[in-house]
Amino acid sequence: MTKSIDIIHDEHRALAAMLSGIRTIAMGIEAGRLKPDFDLLSAMIEYIDKVPEKVHHPKEDQYLFAKLRLRSVEALPIIEHLEEEHRQGEARINALRASLAAYREAGPAGFAAFYEMLQIYLDQEWQHMNTEEKQIFPLARACLTAEDWAEIDAAFLANDNPWQGAAGQYAGLFSKIVNMAPAPVGLG
Ligand SMILES: [Fe+2]
Ligand SMILES: [Fe+2]
Repeated sequence: MTKSIDIIHDEHRALAAMLSGIRTIAMGIEAGRLKPDFDLLSAMIEYIDKVPEKVHHPKEDQYLFAKLRLRSVEALPIIEHLEEEHRQGEARINALRASLAAYREAGPAGFAAFYEMLQIYLDQEWQHMNTEEKQIFPLARACLTAEDWAEIDAAFLANDNPWQGAAGQYAGLFSKIVNMAPAPVGLG
């Protein structure tokens, strides 16, 4: 009855893996264990841009949030906050991309500013996903009807999952990242 919740949850896990990968790499650079691989870092940012921003958030807005806002007054302010974060998503990822470009240009002296920007970005993403998982999912489970779920699930299942798998639109980018990344993040 809640296949779409499972799909969103799986997408959160895939995003969480990418976010913690980028954090592990940045921590390695900070500690002097890793040399910055700018192509890898920009591929990771590109993935975060393409997948959550362009695919995942619109699905939440169009299906899950759209239904839930009709059914739960309690969910309304939370949904509005999350939708606002979705709207700011593109500007936030652009700022992160610009910050990486500035670091690449400046060399080691530019790391601190990039790292600070990255940490802010990561914290916001974690908080956003947590709010969805801890506040929205329980309200959705409690308030949505069987018909609501049938409609939402149909919409979610109609889309191929672009996150993973051979058929995934972004599978190539994902495996490129995994191949480039140093252990324990990737296979490199
Ligand atoms: Fe979201
Ligand atoms: Fe989400």
